[in-house]
Amino acid sequence: VEAKGATGPLSGRTAIVTSGPTHEPIDPVRYIANRSSGRQGHAIAAALARLGADVTLVSGPVTIPDPAGVKVVHVERAEEMRDAVVSRLPADIAVMVAAVADWRVATSSEQKIKKKPGEAPAPLQLTENPDILKTVGHHEKRPTVVVGFAAETENVEDNGRTKLERKGADLIVANDVSPETGIMGGTRNSVKIISKAGVAEWPDLSKDEVATRLADLIAGRLNGA
Ligand code: CTP
Ligand code: CA
Repeated sequence: VEAKGATGPLSGRTAIVTSGPTHEPIDPVRYIANRSSGRQGHAIAAALARLGADVTLVSGPVTIPDPAGVKVVHVERAEEMRDAVVSRLPADIAVMVAAVADWRVATSSEQKIKKKPGEAPAPLQLTENPDILKTVGHHEKRPTVVVGFAAETENVEDNGRTKLERKGADLIVANDVSPETGIMGGTRNSVKIISKAGVAEWPDLSKDEVATRLADLIAGRLNGA
């Protein structure tokens, strides 16, 4: 059976997608993480593949299965994710969906940190992780279409516009990840699509519907629609 995407609007195009959280080790048994499930990023990778793109999905640790029709690279830490993405440039499309940990432990312990009864633990020293979207958005091999997400709990549109500019993205998919929305880790999403041209609202869709629409939008931009 011929692949559905073989003659699709993205056939002959390459795409790199990041998804899921990253895990930043504290010691061999403990890590810093966040609530990302990988559902939105994985759905976007699958949607781009359905349109015919050759998709590499760089995924942090998730419990959902690898999506059909895409190459999957599994990583744990932000620095590994950055290396996996940058080493695969050039590409036509980059969609950075991962909830990359903003900080890592400056020097993770090689041995399990033992508690000393009655003593407070040593504070964790954190250091900033590389910004993968910003790196890709300003890279000499910058993809033609660079898409980022903006996870916000307030001022969604303003913060999304700031990220569009700062990170060198063509589109920012901004969403409200306040706990009461249930978006982080859930199956539905409600987003604003921010570009230089303005803002479009895509309220209350499944993460699969957001993925399908975003893949169509990317194909349109790439093909000059
Ligand atoms: N991102 C990334 N690498 C990082 C941090 C974020 O690639 N180290 C990407 C995310 O994948 C997303 C976009 O940048 O596409 C925005 O992530 P977000 O966490 O909303 O923004 P930050 O720049 O990290 O700012 P803050 O968390 O303070 O809002
Ligand atoms: Ca962040």
